[in-house]
Amino acid sequence: MLPFVDLTRQTTHEGDALREAIGRVLASGRFVLGPELEAFEAEFAAFTGQRHCVGLSSGAAALALSLRAVGVAPGDEVIVPAFTAVPSAAAICSIGALPVFVDVLPETATMDPDAARRAMTEKTRAVMPVHLYGRPSDVPALGVPVVEDAAQAHGAVTGSRSAAVAYSFYPTKNLGGVGDGGAVVTDDDAVASELRLLRSHGFESPDDCIRIAMNARMSELEAAVLRLRLGGLQAANAKRRSIAARYREGSAHLRWQDPHPDHVYHLCVARVDDRDAFRATLGVATDVHYSKAVPEQPAYRSFSGEPCVVSEAWARECVSLPCHPFMSDLEIDEVAGALAATAR
Ligand SMILES: Cc1ncc(COP(=O)(O)O)c(C=O)c1O
Repeated sequence: MLPFVDLTRQTTHEGDALREAIGRVLASGRFVLGPELEAFEAEFAAFTGQRHCVGLSSGAAALALSLRAVGVAPGDEVIVPAFTAVPSAAAICSIGALPVFVDVLPETATMDPDAARRAMTEKTRAVMPVHLYGRPSDVPALGVPVVEDAAQAHGAVTGSRSAAVAYSFYPTKNLGGVGDGGAVVTDDDAVASELRLLRSHGFESPDDCIRIAMNARMSELEAAVLRLRLGGLQAANAKRRSIAARYREGSAHLRWQDPHPDHVYHLCVARVDDRDAFRATLGVATDVHYSKAVPEQPAYRSFSGEPCVVSEAWARECVSLPCHPFMSDLEIDEVAGALAATAR
């Protein structure tokens, strides 16, 4: 069956260039906080049009440390969409803050700005819009710092609209590494220097530890591989867009996120009434992102507040289709044909 994703195609395609990048790090003897990370940070900051990039160990760390860096403290409330990956909410809880779930818009699967406005209380200290599937979310101006979850949206959001933008470089992401990784981009000098403290046990200098923190550093190996792949990111995003356009044009009977010119299709997701039947008949590998809204998850039920019926409907009906830059034309034809056939 046609696979949902196959990362060996990327490593095979990269071949000697990948081996050279990894070999360079091995030969250097520097494995953390070295020249590859410094170079990647400069290159990714330039790519996103922001002044600073701080490389980190994961997207989860990027979100959690961004929240700390913008001043969120234990007991503070952070507004987050109910329909997102669990780590968006987990990052809030990991620093002792409280997720306040708000619904998403039916057309976009991203945060409903009016719902976010209604959820504001005197304890709200930040808001976390999520660019779900790679489609840019509205960034509501609510008078509190914004931390954007761009884990799925490399290349979809550029320039400064918020205090911090958090990325994941998990291997399947649009910009993915050969292990875990993450980064925050920001124009705010204070946020960037706070993040540099927080990622490395809180040390300001070799003798002075001024924050209680932990290790959230990116490895040199990860940075070297991300530098190699950053050069191809725009073209890879263009390929994802063209695949999604093909599916959408050929299958107008399915429901899709409203189009957006900057959508980078980390995931190409259709909504269907009977997901199990649809997946069983399609004949190509599919996946589900995500089968529950976060407040429906057992670990997060105690945080559920206002009903989030649109989020729950997305969770019941979403199905992710194969959409990655190493798909062949034949494979794209096969998926497009299988989708079109579901109209009959
Ligand atoms: C929307 C979203 N936020 C946060 C994360 C967390 O990223 P990581 O897996 O790198 O910790 C992910 C990735 O799974 C994600 O998709």
